[in-house]
Amino acid sequence: MDVTRDRAWETLTRYTKSEALRRHALAVEACVGAYAREAGEDEELWRAAALLHDFDYEMHPTLDKHPQDGAPILREEGYPEELVEAVLSHAEHLELPRDTQLKKALFACDELAGFVHACGLVRPDGIETLEPKSVRKKLKQPSFAAGVHRDEVYAGTGLIGLELDEHIRNVIVAMRPIAAQLGLRTG
Ligand SMILES: [Fe+2]
Ligand SMILES: [Fe+2]
Repeated sequence: MDVTRDRAWETLTRYTKSEALRRHALAVEACVGAYAREAGEDEELWRAAALLHDFDYEMHPTLDKHPQDGAPILREEGYPEELVEAVLSHAEHLELPRDTQLKKALFACDELAGFVHACGLVRPDGIETLEPKSVRKKLKQPSFAAGVHRDEVYAGTGLIGLELDEHIRNVIVAMRPIAAQLGLRTG
């Protein structure tokens, strides 16, 4: 099968009705897609993997099922092993090696995209004027967006070999064009 982001979106929306989960998928897609483009990698494949990384979360909201019980469904849908393995590797509890650029980028963007989204929700202009410095400050406040695993943000940043500010800036810039779709105010 030809992996495209549109096909992945179709799969995602068949299994995921929650707007919050769809927005999370779109945010991670934007970031991973930007890194694919920058690295000259297969952008459609990377975007598809990002869109699908939590595709089964609505039906498998617990770690004894997500994402491992979603993987066979993706295989059945015809997605290649490279994508399925990337999806599986985003989960810390599975302890799989992140041995491809795609796996690294997906892991690096997953939690941070969620965190930047949370930062944008409490600002009058969303992420329009959001700077890395203010994101970094909020990362140090445990009560803000408490569900975001800070250790995964830092580990992911190291994995893709960037400084934290640089990675945060890339994520903000990647998400800006779809801010409205993400439910963020656009100033
Ligand atoms: Fe997940
Ligand atoms: Fe996620």
